[in-house]
Amino acid sequence: MNKGMGEKFLKDYKEPNYWVDEVKLTFNVLDDAKKVFVETVAIYNKNRSSDSNCLKLNGEAALESIKVDGKLLVNEQFVLENNLLILTNLPDQFELTINTVLYPWHNKSCMGLYESRGNLITQCEAEGFRKITYYQDRPDVMAKFTVKIIANRFKFNSLLSNGNFLSISESGDLSTAIWSDPHKKPSYLFALVVGNLSHIEDVFTTKSGRNVILQIYSEPKYIDNLGYAMGCIKDAMTWDEERFNLEYDLERYMIVATSDFNMGAMENKGLNIFNAKYILSSQDISTDTDFIHIQSVIGHEYFHNWTGNRVTCKNWFQLSLKEGLTVFRDQEFTADLHDPSVKRIRDVKLLKRLQFSEDASPLAHPVRPESYVAIDNFYTVTVYEKGAEIVRMYQTILGKEGFKNGLRLYFKRHDGTAVTCDDFCNAMADANNVDLQQFMLWYSQAGTPYVSVKDSYNPVTFEYSLEFTQKIADVDDHYHKKPYLIPIKIGLLDNNGHDLINLEVVEGKYIKQADSIVLLIDDINNKFTFKSQNLSFKPIPSLLREFSAPIRLEYNYSESQRILMINNDSDKYNRFEHLQQVFINQIKSVYNAFRLGDKPRISKNFNYALGNFIMNSNLSPDFRSLAFTMPDFEEMLIEINNINPIFLAQSIMFVEEEIGESLFDIFVELYNLNLSKKYLFEDHGKRALKNTALYYIVRALNRKINNNHSLQLLETIALGQFYNSDNMTDTMAVLYAVNDTNNEIRELIFREFYQKWNTNELIMDKWFSLQAMSKLVNINVLNKLLVDKAFIATNPNKIYSLLNTFTSNGKCFNTEDGYSFIADQVIAIDKFNPGVAGSLACGFSQASSMQENFRKMAKSSIQRILSQEIISNNVFEVSNKIVNSLN
Ligand code: BES
Ligand code: ZN
Repeated sequence: MNKGMGEKFLKDYKEPNYWVDEVKLTFNVLDDAKKVFVETVAIYNKNRSSDSNCLKLNGEAALESIKVDGKLLVNEQFVLENNLLILTNLPDQFELTINTVLYPWHNKSCMGLYESRGNLITQCEAEGFRKITYYQDRPDVMAKFTVKIIANRFKFNSLLSNGNFLSISESGDLSTAIWSDPHKKPSYLFALVVGNLSHIEDVFTTKSGRNVILQIYSEPKYIDNLGYAMGCIKDAMTWDEERFNLEYDLERYMIVATSDFNMGAMENKGLNIFNAKYILSSQDISTDTDFIHIQSVIGHEYFHNWTGNRVTCKNWFQLSLKEGLTVFRDQEFTADLHDPSVKRIRDVKLLKRLQFSEDASPLAHPVRPESYVAIDNFYTVTVYEKGAEIVRMYQTILGKEGFKNGLRLYFKRHDGTAVTCDDFCNAMADANNVDLQQFMLWYSQAGTPYVSVKDSYNPVTFEYSLEFTQKIADVDDHYHKKPYLIPIKIGLLDNNGHDLINLEVVEGKYIKQADSIVLLIDDINNKFTFKSQNLSFKPIPSLLREFSAPIRLEYNYSESQRILMINNDSDKYNRFEHLQQVFINQIKSVYNAFRLGDKPRISKNFNYALGNFIMNSNLSPDFRSLAFTMPDFEEMLIEINNINPIFLAQSIMFVEEEIGESLFDIFVELYNLNLSKKYLFEDHGKRALKNTALYYIVRALNRKINNNHSLQLLETIALGQFYNSDNMTDTMAVLYAVNDTNNEIRELIFREFYQKWNTNELIMDKWFSLQAMSKLVNINVLNKLLVDKAFIATNPNKIYSLLNTFTSNGKCFNTEDGYSFIADQVIAIDKFNPGVAGSLACGFSQASSMQENFRKMAKSSIQRILSQEIISNNVFEVSNKIVNSLN
């Protein structure tokens, strides 16, 4: 596929010829850390199922020397080509010594060993270890690591690596620290930090009574922002013990915060490295959402210690084995510690917004991909979020206890090894004595299954039937897709919206649970028939409760049925879902009017129900606020074909304004009802509802901003909240609400915010991303922001907040200038950070949903990227897939 760089295929997987038992690494950090010498000594053992005595090592570092059993190899004794070091005719067992030299200050890729703010940090997943030394940089090679670090003790006070701390000694200007990790691990979990850092410390006593030292490290200036994260670590440790009986397995657990990081965080054994944005917090700098994210990311990386580290992936095609499972675990963690239905709704909204659109885009791929050029491109919402949905379906089908037993068997069978998604499925099946073979299709077929439902009622027999039809879109025509096993949780409602009880299923496979029925669909067509004494009328089906499967489901509900469910369904998720469907239908009808040049009009039939819903104090404020969050541009991508982006953005705005106007008085009342005097995190739901009200109030006022009264009201409410806010949630809510209003109030607020916060990097990320999201942004504004003194061109967080955010601004990105601007940025970033450049290039996939003229414009920009003489695998793979789809 790529210019000779090679696409890798799952079907070609082979075990390596040699295994490694032990690795001893020595890092010699020269005074100024500009140069680092690395020595790698490893014991290799022949893999008995292989008959070749050839060893292939991945490596991209400057190679100084190679020794086999202490004997230096000369040039003709090895081949070094395309970042592959090949040694042949090796003995069955030998010691290999490799010397490399690294220049971390010149490394801006944030992979391998790199400098950040004067400190040295590593990132090895997925293929970064090869930038440090020559090794079989693949996850099925697991070894015990010992690490020695030598560095100037006056410059660096923290010399950290994985596992248990063995010793530190000093001589002259140098410190020497030794770390040893007793657990076998693949190279991607290796980590090293050499820095001048501050830290906080605590102790956690495990269930079995062992004390674990907990430490969080950061640059000294952030030391006061670490406390909340420490609490989160303890919450995560406690939860994993209680829910899954999993204990921590080392003497210490360390987290290091860094400002230059490609990802959110990384689960290196015993030494997690975190993007500063997922560690640092305080009421002043963090929003309520930040606090919850921080807790869930800390949970996620901690949970990897079992799901990912103790049991890891046999190859990178199995990535979802650890990521899907661990996302599921972090979702359950947040659900257990907060409001579970709110958490579920947030996760589903994210899935639909990002994963459904990915699955319908040129970048669609199965949860277990069959091939890749750059594995970094596969850390996707499909592998993560759809992967987590698959794990959730095991739990829905097997029950919470059954799932737990499956997980126990999985660890019993596979602890300390590298396995596949099939191994996970088999453990689940065997522990519960069921056959789950069909379920594996969820891993191998791309695309979102589409299920349509028809029902019928027999007034003579009092029987009610549901008929499901699976339509499986063939994204790839080269294989014929098969029907999935789909768990569909349902209820049947009477005319008051109450659940019918004592339902009997007389036809079809199902699972009966305490409070619900889960139907099992396993064919193109499945029919289910229900009986009950109460079935003297045709019920209303409440389908796909809790979003029990990642599918699109269609049933023809009437307006009054929807209203009934919005107000009454016992399933919170479905109440949310039906409200969102109302919004989606409104947006679509406005869009069609714009497209046909008609005057848009939306049905007012729902206003009464909407007003009741948002004022219903029996529902949590968080839930109400979430249900009222309008589907955004990305969520609408799967709803409309051949999109005109301007009309779509206008339509969403139009519906928001209409709702703001129709329910104006209600929003004002809600706003006042939910004001709180002093910041307490516990009030986050009230704050969310108040700020949703603020958003709609501002939308309504903005529509008639030329009216003096509106402008004054806007000024009073927006500036009032801005100047009185004692927390970042309320402050950000004002910026967000006024972000599309073209007037001096917005300018004033953004300017003052900047003046106050321009030296705080994390807050500046928020400031940049708000502007990138605004309907008012254009290339001139972006170009100015790129040279702002707070913008750091090589810092991933800055690139994400300004540039990646811009690509999700449908109205402004989908323009000739927008495409061309992003293409320039992709080309520039690719020269120093291919991972980040690849993720930015993914933004172009959206163009495939646009009208032809937009697709053409996007195509020529992507072709320009592809015509660069030097282009990374990352950018090539993504751009190539997208360009081929733009016809
Ligand atoms: N293992 C990943 C980090 C990672 C991602 C390394 C991609 C290399 C390439 C980590 O466990 C992870 O998934 N982090 C997420 C956050 C998490 C809460 C979903 C991330 O970094 O976005
Ligand atoms: Zn992860």
